[in-house]
Amino acid sequence: MNLLDKIETEMNTASDALVNDMKSLDGDIIILGVSGKIGYNLSALLMDALKKAGIEKNVYGVARFSDGNHSRDALEAIGVQTLVADFMNDASLQSLPKVKNVIFMVGYKFGSTGNESYTWALNSYLPGRVAEVFKDSRIVVFSTGCVYPLVNVEAGAPSEESMPEAIGEYAQSCLGRERIFEHFSKTNQTPVAIYRLNYAIDVRYGVLVELARNVYEGKPVDVTMGQVNVIWQPDASEMALRSLLHTTVPANVLNITGPETLSVRWLADRFGARFKKPVTIVGTEAPSALLSNASKSHELFGYPKTSIREMIEIVATWIEHEGSQLDKPTHFQEREGKY
Ligand SMILES: NC(=O)c1ccc[n+]([C@@H]2O[C@H](COP(=O)([O-])OP(=O)(O)OC[C@H]3O[C@@H](n4cnc5c(N)ncnc54)[C@H](OP(=O)(O)O)[C@@H]3O)[C@@H](O)[C@H]2O)c1
Repeated sequence: MNLLDKIETEMNTASDALVNDMKSLDGDIIILGVSGKIGYNLSALLMDALKKAGIEKNVYGVARFSDGNHSRDALEAIGVQTLVADFMNDASLQSLPKVKNVIFMVGYKFGSTGNESYTWALNSYLPGRVAEVFKDSRIVVFSTGCVYPLVNVEAGAPSEESMPEAIGEYAQSCLGRERIFEHFSKTNQTPVAIYRLNYAIDVRYGVLVELARNVYEGKPVDVTMGQVNVIWQPDASEMALRSLLHTTVPANVLNITGPETLSVRWLADRFGARFKKPVTIVGTEAPSALLSNASKSHELFGYPKTSIREMIEIVATWIEHEGSQLDKPTHFQEREGKY
């Protein structure tokens, strides 16, 4: 097995904690929005965990598969039953299998500036339709740390006790998604977990890939957004699946990210040292940044398995060996909420 295949295999291998949790989970699972950046990894970990646990469940993965059938074929190959549906078409939504467990990963971010009405329809209106259709299920709702404002770095990151204050229409519509699911959790007694993610780190996209590529290619690194929180995507995917066992009425809000607030300058320097290349910094660190305190999810699941230095090494190895890339930038530097 070559180095890149080895990295991918490890990313898609379930931990004992996930295997054990899947043993306690009753019912089949449907993943809505399975063809995006996180869907395959989450599905692969789930299928591996079910296999290791010796459990048979139907796992459905649904999207429009707007990338053609590339992601669909890969999902089918690991045993996910794929279904093509546009959730904005109500008949398609109603026709989906009504299973016990739902992972809702649908969202619209890039292009939202200039397409505001669709952004609100997909991110805030559709959740109401989904919450009604799956009112007898338990639902993990992917959300984003963007629902918090930029905070003074010295004051520290907001936790779930802090009030959201979303900047810009994308983040506001995501807060709308959360509030609508919260509403239907109360009115229909549907157990829900709101999963507020800050920056999944994958080898094909993400904050570390962007910083690493800039350094590797001799491009400058802007440090105006001077601090970030990140989490290894497989650790985040496992927490999403394990959150099925932490859905509650009213909804349980969970910040999902790593334990450290990381300096962007320090991350760039680490890649510089790893690649033995000079680092060009532009800008100066602003006093505020988009941050998240995920201590509540760490209490539930433990700290993420993969450390920041391990992530740096894996991403650097992937880039050095010219592993494939998605070329989907995160725009983590954005400070006005315009995506
Ligand atoms: N990746 C991160 O680091 C990160 C960070 C914070 C929050 N999040 C949130 O976590 C969720 C999952 O992340 P991601 O990166 O995997 O998102 P993504 O790449 O944007 O994927 C979104 C998924 O939704 C599907 N979708 C969109 N509109 C649809 C429609 N009308 N009908 C059916 N399917 C539809 C897309 O598939 P088709 O186009 O094929 O239909 C795709 O499968 C998103 O809500 C994202 O905002 C992600």
